[in-house]
Amino acid sequence: MNDQQTYNYTVVRQFAIMTIVWGIVGMSVGVLIAAQLAWPVLNFDIPWLSFGRLRPLHTNAVIFAFGGSALFATSYYVVQRTCHVRLISDKLAAFTFWGWQLIILSAAITLPLGITSSKEYAELEWPIDILIAVVWVSYAIVFFGTIVKRRVPHIYVANWFYGAFIITIAILHIINSAAVPVTLFKSYSAYAGVQDAMVQWWYGHNAVGFFLTAGFLGMMYYFVPKQAGRPVYSYRLSVVHFWALIFTYIWAGPHHLHYTALPDWTQSLGMVMSLILLAPSWGGMINGIMTLSGAWEKLRTDPVLRLLIVSISFYGMSTFEGPMMSIKTVNALSHYTDWTIGHVHSGALGWVALVSMGSLYYLIPRLFNRELYSLKLVEVHFWTATIGIVLYIASMWVAGIMQGLMWRASNPDGTLTYSFVESVQAMHPYYIVRFLGGAIFLFGALVMAWNIWKTIAGAKPAVGTIPAPAAAH
Ligand code: HEM
Ligand code: HEM
Repeated sequence: MNDQQTYNYTVVRQFAIMTIVWGIVGMSVGVLIAAQLAWPVLNFDIPWLSFGRLRPLHTNAVIFAFGGSALFATSYYVVQRTCHVRLISDKLAAFTFWGWQLIILSAAITLPLGITSSKEYAELEWPIDILIAVVWVSYAIVFFGTIVKRRVPHIYVANWFYGAFIITIAILHIINSAAVPVTLFKSYSAYAGVQDAMVQWWYGHNAVGFFLTAGFLGMMYYFVPKQAGRPVYSYRLSVVHFWALIFTYIWAGPHHLHYTALPDWTQSLGMVMSLILLAPSWGGMINGIMTLSGAWEKLRTDPVLRLLIVSISFYGMSTFEGPMMSIKTVNALSHYTDWTIGHVHSGALGWVALVSMGSLYYLIPRLFNRELYSLKLVEVHFWTATIGIVLYIASMWVAGIMQGLMWRASNPDGTLTYSFVESVQAMHPYYIVRFLGGAIFLFGALVMAWNIWKTIAGAKPAVGTIPAPAAAH
């Protein structure tokens, strides 16, 4: 039996393809809302095309549809390969695929219609929330069941990160989504006032920590060593990295609520934990990058490895920036400004999107038993993505700091130097640059989609492997 038959690659392939599809959809909406901020006429006076409704569509599409599909695909692949065993249930795995697609479709319909619980990153209404909980618990059963059935005694560290991500997201989602339904499409949070805000940002920050970080670190720990052809730099560091990161992240949520009605000590605790978080984050970054030690020359010839290494560098950059922004006096300037948006996208585009795309370039040829169509196109993708990210985040840094400074500037008599609308006007050129950066990044993603399409459709079987039998899953 070859790998195609031993393992369940069907579900991995399905999620891998949908990662690319949803990536392009979510980023296209991102480019559209970036254009709307520069040219408001693009709202067209149509409610379901307005910025307010498309913004949550963008965040849900990129985080849960694109990022989620990438996490499902890679975790199902990694758990099978490292445990030397097939997923415990093909049927349950298929249910998670179709269930997740149904959730995405429901989000794509309800959000533009303005149906929302109004909690950021948890906007979907209660019937969809219940479906998410059911699919997620099924995911946990498939993943942990496969680990229990493993043929090797050891549980490779990537699975620890995926496992923590799966358990924590289940807990966060179920607790934060607790609500009192009023109608089929309207519910009210089970929490009130400042408690509601605290629960929401405990969820929100750990969505960043576990959905956008821990799961993708699992990806890093498997695909970087594979692509580099080297073992992880330090296995001991990876274990310390895991426990330190998991322990610290969970306390940092209050940094989203500085200077609010939240008790002051809670805000300070969130700030201190965020500062401590720099250490495990950088431990992980160093472990990822140093995996290349002794093989640095590969960066010159392998654009896939370059995508992966640049993604880890952006991880390091955003996890340096985050702790700085969590310092209360810094946050007094950065909060509500585009600096936050720049920070988000250095993590989201630089880290999450690039590590996923690098992993897919490794994964897809193996899943379909084909040789990658063109390394030259990966090179084009690498440069367009990098230039796009730099334009996006640099424009947002300038815009954000300018906003913060304009809002706080005051005249000797105590009146404000600038009206709010003057700060909006000053943003115009930066919003255009951000739009261009996003469009260039999207172009790179389209190049990737073409390359992957040609890879799968191509007749070139991978060198040295048995051609996939027609009956392969
Ligand atoms: C072509 C690429 C992208 C473009 C042009 C883009 C554009 C945008 C824009 C214009 C906003 C709204 C900013 C505002 O309200 O001022 C936004 C928000 C956001 N985007 Fe993106 N985006 C892109 C890719 C991504 C990706 C890949 C992710 C995640 C994996 C992501 C995650 C987010 C998040 C979390 C927010 C909300 C930020 C906040 O509330 O602070 N974006 N994006
Ligand atoms: C050590 C790690 C990190 C820390 C301490 C941190 C800290 C922060 C802080 C202080 C804010 C601004 C809160 C505010 O003023 O409202 C923020 C916003 C945000 N960060 Fe990070 N960050 C970290 C890493 C990351 C990474 C790696 C990503 C993405 C992959 C990310 C995604 C976000 C998002 C989406 C927001 C916007 C939330 C919102 O208001 O909607 N962060 N982060």
